[in-house]
Parts: sequence; C-alpha cells; structure tokens
Amino acid sequence: MNENQDYRDLDARYYMQAFGRSLMLVKGAGSRVWDADGNEYIDCVAGIAVCSTGHCHPAVVTALCDQAHRLIHCSNLYYVPGQAECARKLVELTGMNRAFFVNSGAEAMEAAIKLARVRTGRKKFVAFEDGFHGRTMGSLAVTHKPAIREPFDPLEPQCSFVRYGDLNALETVIDDKTAGVVVEPIQGEAGIISPPDGFLEGVREACNRHGALLIVDEVQTGMGRTGRWLGLQHTGVKADIITLAKGIASGFPMGAIVAREGLEFERGEHGSTFAGGPLACAAALATIDVIEKILPSIPEKAERFAAGLSAHNPRVRGLMIGISVGDTCPAVQEACARAGVLVNCAGHGNLRLVPPLIITNEEIDRVCEVVNEALG
Ligand SMILES: Cc1ncc(COP(=O)(O)O)c(C=O)c1O
Repeated sequence: MNENQDYRDLDARYYMQAFGRSLMLVKGAGSRVWDADGNEYIDCVAGIAVCSTGHCHPAVVTALCDQAHRLIHCSNLYYVPGQAECARKLVELTGMNRAFFVNSGAEAMEAAIKLARVRTGRKKFVAFEDGFHGRTMGSLAVTHKPAIREPFDPLEPQCSFVRYGDLNALETVIDDKTAGVVVEPIQGEAGIISPPDGFLEGVREACNRHGALLIVDEVQTGMGRTGRWLGLQHTGVKADIITLAKGIASGFPMGAIVAREGLEFERGEHGSTFAGGPLACAAALATIDVIEKILPSIPEKAERFAAGLSAHNPRVRGLMIGISVGDTCPAVQEACARAGVLVNCAGHGNLRLVPPLIITNEEIDRVCEVVNEALG
C-alpha cells in the first residue's frame, strides 16, 4: 500500500497532471487485469477499445518478442520487416487500395487531412458535433468538443461542424471548396451513438456532388469492434480515406490510413520515424490473425450483452456498448470497479463498455450482473 502511495506521489510531483486517474493496473491476461493491491477486474475499458485480443495475448506476445530479438527499429529509409504484409492485410480487409502507417489515431487523422488537402488542392473540412478525432492540432481542428478545442484556437484546417445525422445541415456548409467530410460511423467518445439509417449514404452522396473526400474515422469502430472489420461495412458505403488505430495492434502503438485507388502520398509528402516499424507490424499481423478467428463470434457476444443489460436500454453495436446514465455515471463507474468490473464514462453521461473481443460468455454474464446492480 505504501509503495503504491509513493508511486502516486512520484506521479503527482513529476508527471504533467493532464489525466485524472485512480487505479494502478500492473498485470493483465485475457479480459482480466489486476491492480497493485492484487484486486482482479474484468476489463470492459480495454485501454479504451485498444486491447482487442485481450491483455498479453500469447500470439501477440510471441510475435513481439520474436521480432524484438531480430530487429526493433530500422527506419522507413529501408524496407521494414512485416510492413508490406501488414499493408496488404489492411487493404484486403477494408477493400481499399493502399495503406500508410502512423503511430496513433490522431496521427491517422493528421495523415488523412494532409492527403485530402494535397490531392484535392482544397482547404476546408466539415465534421460533426460530438465527433472525436484526436488531440494533435489538425485532428483537434476537426474535433467538435469546444472545451478541448477552443483553448487552442485558431486551429488549422478550417472546419465547420454540423449536427451528427443531419443531412440538411451538411448541405448548408459543404461546397465545392470542401476538401473532405470527416465522420465516425458510430460516435465512440460521444457514448456509442449511431446515426439515423441512410445518413452515411447521404454524406457519401453529398461528397460526390461537391468533389469532397469522405474520410471515415474507424479508429474506435474498426478492426472488428462492431463484428465486421469496419463499422462502415454494415452499410454499402465506400470511403475515400479510412483512419485506423486503437485495436489494430493489441496495445502496441500504431495507426494507419487506407485509401482508395488514386489517393496516395507521393514521395516526400508524408513520413514518420517510428511509424509502421517492425514491432508494430509484428503486433498488428498477430492481432489480425487472432481477430480473423474470433470475428464470427462477435454478434453472439453482442446479443448476450444486449439481453443481459436489456433493463437499461443499452445501445449495442457489436462489442461497443453505451448506456445513458446521466450525472451519476462516475458513481456507477466506481461501483462497478468496486465489484470487479472496469467500465468508463464517455460523453454526455453515457456509460461505455468496449471489452476485449475475446471476452467469454461467463465474463459477459458477470459484467451484466455487476452493471445491473450498479445501475440499480
Ligand atoms: C474515433 C476516434 N478517432 C481518433 C481518436 C484519437 O486516437 P489517439 O488517442 O490514438 O490519438 C480516438 C480516440 O479516442 C477516437 O475514438
């Protein structure tokens, strides 16, 4: 206990206090994590939809260790082990033409913005209220939440925000100077909010009419989270550029964009020292392999969550689950943690569950029991 307090003091003294945190997690296996006091939790936060294959999946650990013994880093000045295979996998899974690697979700959005600007020659963007796309200057510029965006104004690129799901509002801002429209197929940070039927089709159509690119942010919804490789694959809509990160490499930092034919960076237009490095690609290839095997089981798990939480009107989209709780959300989150289940509060008092995709039926039942109890 003392040691933990010392650690908290160390953090308080030396680390910039940009996060509010309480638990200290020190170990994970499958869907379970343990804190420094030895308490065990079923982890329905999963690093915020990151630990897709669970914690320390043996296949991912082996792939990382094997690669670490061979080559940890070499630079994009050279062909990188695993990078082309990983690009091919992403292209095949998403039905796009080429991939480019980055290190995070925000960087994926930065890359998408740069690609849209350089290929269209246009500067303006449109995005949606309550959308979240990252904290770097460019990704923040297309992120709506005033509390996190306004302290950093003025931001580039120029972006107009309209209500998510409102095609009429989109029509009032999109024009022939719009480089791209940025949209999440399901808003994650907002609390698992789906748009009305036909919305994504309408956004695609508006982009076509104005020659703007459709940039779909699949950072949270992608890599199997909703039961398909992309959230967009539940519709017939094709994006121009897709951003990926979070679940792509089971927690090893990695992001990517995939783009349709005719949209790609040319020599010197973009780059990054670490992006798409040997370790990231090894982790991603192992992750994709695991997800390929468990993807068919996601709808059944989703139904189990939907049935188990039915008393509270959950919004269940594969293994993205949102429940409107309101102001008591933080108290519910704490009650769940005390009972051994980690969940968190997304926007607008929405309780969010984004467990590892490998969560078992037994664990789902226990999570539902605890959440139901906490919600009363
Ligand atoms: C939809 C979406 N896009 C982008 C991001 C930013 O990703 P990162 O935190 O890896 O920069 C997030 C993070 O929560 C997200 O949910």
